[in-house]
Amino acid sequence: MQENRGRFSSRIGFLLAAAGSAVGLGNIWGFPTQAASNGGAAFLLTYLVLAFCLAYPVLMVELVLGRHARGNPITALRRISSGERTRAGATLIGSVGVLVASLILSFYSIVGGWMLAHFLSAIAGLAGFDQWSAWLTGFSWQRNVLFTLFFMLLTIRIVSKGVESGIERWSTRLMPSLILMLLLLTLYVLTLDGAMQGLKSYLIPDFSRLWSPSLIVSALGSAFFSLSLGVGTMLIYGSYVDESESLPSLGAQVTLLDVGVAVLAGFLVMPAMYVAAHNGVEIFSASGELISEDTLIFSVLPALFDTMGVAGVLVGLAFFLLMSIAALTSSISMLEVPVATLIENSSLERGRSAYLVGAVILVVSLLIISQFSSLFGFVVALTTRYSQPLLGMLFCIYLGWIWHRDQVLQELKRGSPDVAQGLFWKVWPVWVKYVCPVFVLLIFWQAL
Ligand code: PFF
Repeated sequence: MQENRGRFSSRIGFLLAAAGSAVGLGNIWGFPTQAASNGGAAFLLTYLVLAFCLAYPVLMVELVLGRHARGNPITALRRISSGERTRAGATLIGSVGVLVASLILSFYSIVGGWMLAHFLSAIAGLAGFDQWSAWLTGFSWQRNVLFTLFFMLLTIRIVSKGVESGIERWSTRLMPSLILMLLLLTLYVLTLDGAMQGLKSYLIPDFSRLWSPSLIVSALGSAFFSLSLGVGTMLIYGSYVDESESLPSLGAQVTLLDVGVAVLAGFLVMPAMYVAAHNGVEIFSASGELISEDTLIFSVLPALFDTMGVAGVLVGLAFFLLMSIAALTSSISMLEVPVATLIENSSLERGRSAYLVGAVILVVSLLIISQFSSLFGFVVALTTRYSQPLLGMLFCIYLGWIWHRDQVLQELKRGSPDVAQGLFWKVWPVWVKYVCPVFVLLIFWQAL
């Protein structure tokens, strides 16, 4: 089993694949819209603190566990457990992680499908097929089913090709274009009338919102979702990293890239909203709050593109292409979790596993589409707001309390031989043993 596991062929390959997993709809959609409805820079500040103080340490837990075990989350947690009870706990936690990763994919592929549909709608509009274009952006179940299927097939195809020729190859192709497109779009929007007001509301914090428990739980969920934590994604990617790589520095680079893209997306979306307001689009709801979430992405921004003439069609096209790419590099990392777990626990080869698991998840997606109003929000909250931070906390407990400290150090020394002398080793083990679990629990307790 160990010999024929995949590997990332290079450091940059891992970085772009892990950043590809981290950078997704959570960064370009979730973060700016939450910032918009939670006091702008106050949310940004909370998010930054949580990303570096809680999410980065948990990311490191997953990377170290994964590379040590060279296996899926269940194997990894079991390998470091010596007692019968801790091993049973490991099986349970690892399995829930795999299940949650699959559930996240079941709603993420629906949203990914919307992005593809909006992208194609812009092309249809350019070509003069107005009826098609309108159908593609309408919220019909036929459109949702078709594009969820389309998005899922793309995801399955890439994962079925394996770590190096699928995940790594596509991440290294797509991620640089994503960052370039995001930069160009942001620069363009910042030149438009009204943008500066948006920049102000993004950067001037409304501190009265800073200590609201619901803001902190949202920011915590966002940070964990954004770094793909708690469900074994980063653990599995860590299991494909070469022994010669320094994990603390790889983890820091992934965190920086992820946070950087979220902050940059804020510089695009918030100013874009105020440009829309300047062009006569309504951006405040009846209660006086900034419009956020799906209305922002699918109503306010398209309304903005409409007011911009031909340039607007091109900007809309670029924007939804950007969203589709971001979604795809993340969805492949979600599918990899159950697929790798299945391959390692059965005699099925990768291609069949990818199609089989993908088909099962697709059935769940179809169920969600059929009961959209009651299931969609429920699955999102259950998986991202609650499960991800709690599972991340359990990973910390396994590393901090069950795994031997010497073995953790041995694993870290591979690729960073001087790690024991540095600040990282002085702070991180204690941090994940005490601070992370206590903080996650406190935040939940506060919110309840
Ligand atoms: N990090 C992705 C985003 O920000 O959109 C979402 C995600 C990917 C969550 C992979 C969980 C996961 F396992």
